[in-house]
Amino acid sequence: MPPQVYTSPAFLELEKQTIFAREWQCLGRASALAKAGDYLTADINGQPVVVLRTAEGKLRAMSNVCLHRMSVLLQGRGNARVIVCPYHAWSYTLDGELRGAPLLSNQPGFRKESYKLPEVRCEVWQGWVYVTLDREARPVAERLAELDKLIAPYEMGNYVETFYEEHVWNTNWKILAENFMESYHLPVLHRATVGPHSKLEDMQCPPGHETFNYHWIAKEASLPIGNAHPDNARLTGHWRKTTVLLAI
Ligand code: FES
Repeated sequence: MPPQVYTSPAFLELEKQTIFAREWQCLGRASALAKAGDYLTADINGQPVVVLRTAEGKLRAMSNVCLHRMSVLLQGRGNARVIVCPYHAWSYTLDGELRGAPLLSNQPGFRKESYKLPEVRCEVWQGWVYVTLDREARPVAERLAELDKLIAPYEMGNYVETFYEEHVWNTNWKILAENFMESYHLPVLHRATVGPHSKLEDMQCPPGHETFNYHWIAKEASLPIGNAHPDNARLTGHWRKTTVLLAI
């Protein structure tokens, strides 16, 4: 790639318009939002967004910006029964409806029914939470239908998040995306850990699809990593020792 695609502010602007403002973005696992009020927050193309589990048990995404003076409402991850703005304490239900506005509720002309945090499209695919700012975007499941078939034996929709970490890398986002699209570097950079188990000559790298690419590695059955856990009775045959590395 020409170096400018990693450094040019104009190119980044183009990426924002064509990718971050329009594409689905994966924000985490639905299993991490199991209880009513569980939430996670994210920044989608400069827009603060919150995804939460409503009192009715539905997953909902909406703007995380107060309708009063645009303070950001929730930070990080957590659980909230009511969303209270840290600036002047306007409060919202988990459905985004304005519940209270101190000293304003009795003012003539102020109708709290007129205020609701705008909803953002949110879908769950294989247990992953996706949101998009684009109302016209095709459903995630439709766009990843080919991938569904490919990874069906793993039953990934049942996976449960056991820990969560956030890492911020001081680099262009594509450098990370590209790194996770290949295992070419494993024998060298990761020679102390997974490297010796990653036989490049046994790797299969089929052509990429519109929305994803992948490669497979079949591990030796004797290896301690990369094989199905003995308690895992779902995976059979070669699936027990196949690792699929996906980039969506
Ligand atoms: S900015 Fe939220 S209550 Fe004022």
